[in-house]
Order: sequence, then C-alpha cells, then structure tokens
Amino acid sequence: MKTIIEPFRIKVVEPIRVTTVDERRVLLARASWNLFAIHSDDVMIDLLTDSGTSAMSAEQWAAVMRGDESYAGSPSFYRFESAVRELMPFRHVIPTHQGRAAEAILFSIVGGPGRIVPSNTHFDTTRGNIEATGAVALDLVIPEARNPDDPHPFKGNMDVARLEDLLRREGRAIPLVMLTVTNNAGGGQPVSLENIRAVAEVAHRHGKPLFIDGCRFAENAWFIKCREPGQSTRTVTEIVRDMFAVADGMTMSAKKDAFANIGGWLAMNDDVLAAAARNRLILTEGFPTYGGLAGRDLDAIAIGLHEIVDEQYLKYRVRTNEYIGERLTALGIPIVRPVGGHAVFVDARSFLPHVPPLQYPGQSLAVALYELGGIRACEIGTVMFGVGPDGTESSAEMDLVRLAMPRRVYTQSHADYVVEVFEEVARTRDRLRGLRIVWQPRQLRHFTARFEPVTGD
Ligand SMILES: Cc1ncc(COP(=O)(O)O)c(C=O)c1O
Repeated sequence: MKTIIEPFRIKVVEPIRVTTVDERRVLLARASWNLFAIHSDDVMIDLLTDSGTSAMSAEQWAAVMRGDESYAGSPSFYRFESAVRELMPFRHVIPTHQGRAAEAILFSIVGGPGRIVPSNTHFDTTRGNIEATGAVALDLVIPEARNPDDPHPFKGNMDVARLEDLLRREGRAIPLVMLTVTNNAGGGQPVSLENIRAVAEVAHRHGKPLFIDGCRFAENAWFIKCREPGQSTRTVTEIVRDMFAVADGMTMSAKKDAFANIGGWLAMNDDVLAAAARNRLILTEGFPTYGGLAGRDLDAIAIGLHEIVDEQYLKYRVRTNEYIGERLTALGIPIVRPVGGHAVFVDARSFLPHVPPLQYPGQSLAVALYELGGIRACEIGTVMFGVGPDGTESSAEMDLVRLAMPRRVYTQSHADYVVEVFEEVARTRDRLRGLRIVWQPRQLRHFTARFEPVTGD
C-alpha cells in the first residue's frame, strides 16, 4: 500500500463557496488587501492558522453532550485532568481558556523587571506575556534553525551551550527555562528527546525548573519516532511521557494538539507555585475546576488527547504537509526545509526577488494566492515583524508565507488544489507587485493594516 489515506470518514460537511477571480479581486479591494479582513465564507481553502480550526470527532461531539456545567467539582474536570495526566504526569493541572491565559498567569508570578526567560524560540504570545511583566524573553535556538535550507532533523533544538553560559552568567535572574515543542515561530520544527533531556539536565543543575510549551507535543513526538536514533520502535505515547517526565511544568493551547476549538492549561509539580497560579486563575479565568472553559470544552479536550496520539493520524498529518512541500519544491518554489509539523513555510523573498522587503513580498504572495485560488495564508515577515519598539520600519529576518493546515479538515484533493494554485502563481510571478501600507495601528499591525498595490514603479 502506497497511499497514506485520511484515517477518518466524513460525517458532517461544511460547504465551500466557490468564488471567481473577479469576485475575489473585488473582495480584496474591499478588505484593503489585508486577508484578516476577508470574511471566512469568502475563502475556499483557509490556511491562516491551525489553531482552534480542527474538525472534532464524533466522540468529541458525544463528549460535549456529557459535559457537566457545575461550578465546582464537575466530572468533566476530572476526566480532563486524568486525560492530561495520562500523558503529562504533573501534580497540578489548571485549565485556562487558551494557551496565552496559561502564559499570562505563569509570568505574572515568575516574571517581572530584571528577569530573563530563555527558550528555543518564544511564540509571540509567550514573548508578549513575558515582556508585559518587564522581563526579557530570550531565544536560544540552534544556529541551523536560521537557515531555511539546512536539513537538520531537529531545527527546534535549543543551543545547550548558550543556555549553560546564560545560566552561569545570569542565573539569579532566570526563574525558569522554556522549550516550545514543536517550535512554531521557527517553522514548526521539532525538538529531539536528547535535546529536551539535555536542556532539563542543565536547567536542573542550575536549580531552575523546565517548562514546556506543549502546543504541538504529539507532532513533536511523531518526529522523534521517525527521526531520532533508537526511537522508531517506541509508541508516540511512550515518547510523549518521556518528553514531559523531565519537565517541571507546561503551558498548553488545546486549540492545537488536543483537537479542541478552545482551551488550554497550565500544569506544574511545585505546590507553592500552583497555589499562586490558582489564586490568579480565580481572579482572571474562573474556579480551578473549570478555568475559563465550559465543562463541555473540558470533555472535548479529554477525548482529543486520546485521539491525537493515534499514529495513523500523525502519519497522515505530517505526510500532508510533506507532500505539499515536495510538490512545491518540484515546481521550484522555495520553502523552509524540512517541512514542519503543522505548516509549510514558503520563502516569499526568494520567490519574488523583484519585490523589495519593504514592499512586503510575503503579503504580495499571500494576496496572489487568494486572488488566483481563494486560498488564505498568513504573511510571516516584514508586515508582521518589521516595526521596531521605536516605531521605525526595517525588513524582517525573512519574508515567509505560512500555509498552516487545520487538523482533519482538508483532503488530498484540497492539497492538490493548493499546489495547482501555486503553479499558476509561479507562471505569473514576474507580474506580481508589492504593496504599500496606507494605514496601520501602533501595535500588531498585520491584523488590521490597510494596503494598496504598488503600481508603475
Ligand atoms: C507555540 C505556541 N504557544 C502558545 C500559543 C498561544 O496559544 P493560544 O492561541 O491558545 O492563546 C500558540 C498559538 O498559536 C502557539 O503556537
């Protein structure tokens, strides 16, 4: 058997409204060429994010009906807690409405001016929550991660020597060490078990806890099984347990590898920290047996955690992105390699060398994908990262377009369609022009900035 099939059948469908190029041109102008302003009904294939966009299973919907909405001590909480503990055996599991709420609670306790929190690469909400307390968020990913062509199998790894050096110099300022698995901001690249253990060993030797941002823990474990020597005969569940066995806590967005549309948690072993976190939770989220969630959400997460470690699912999941990556590479479209777990990242700066970075080649490509094929992707480049704290603009390190794949939502023919649209974009690439920003907010401009196409120059 050669074809890796979608390991599920479709029971409920959501129609896709098929639009024309002419219609989409009008919609783009109406949205000021910002894809966040397009209504999702007007998108044919939505690859904006893999967060909260999963298709829930029949079992999850059945679990939603079992959800118990008691304020305190709901059985939904205990089912959720035991599903988390089966994989990540932390003493305290504290539900939150999503991942950033777990981060906000954690760093409101351990952050603060003068503190430094190292990670492989902090995701932007993690960085934001650390910096909001006055602390510094530091990225210590291995140098290979910065080269889109480097085929290193674990480009999410932390540079352990730099971590050790930092702990030696600044140990007193560091409340904890973090690791993001997989490394979303670095292209969804995995962290090896060997690296997780080495980071834990160094952190513990310096008396610091290790917290894992586990949003895509199952995809990370699958990469460990496929790529790390000695791991191929072990189950994903065993590998997941090993990943978390050396950690002291975690933050999680259940909108990723728990197949849920909302939810998250903060977990830890430290009783004192947990008591402080629960106090904060009651102020900002809710009572500790529901956090910011409904009982039905907790039940959906509990089932999602059983389903996500299914190896047939993970094989199909990772293969879908690899398949798109291979076909784009065959078309000569530059991508970040190896392909990550949840997304394919296209190197728009290399693809459109005639569009200067300050005319946003990533945005130009993302707009072309929508115009020609109704595909919505996300610019991860100068629009997103090009404004410094003093308000000045410069080009980002890379101009990428992320094609993030929602879980269990699209099929092989959707993937083929995405490739065909790229084929058409590649044919017309010399004609693609950059954009200029005509209005932008002071922060997080990518969400609401208004653009217009650059003409004539
Ligand atoms: C690695 C990582 N950490 C944290 C978060 C934040 O999670 P949430 O969107 O649930 O707040 C995300 C979301 O995309 C993420 O990818």
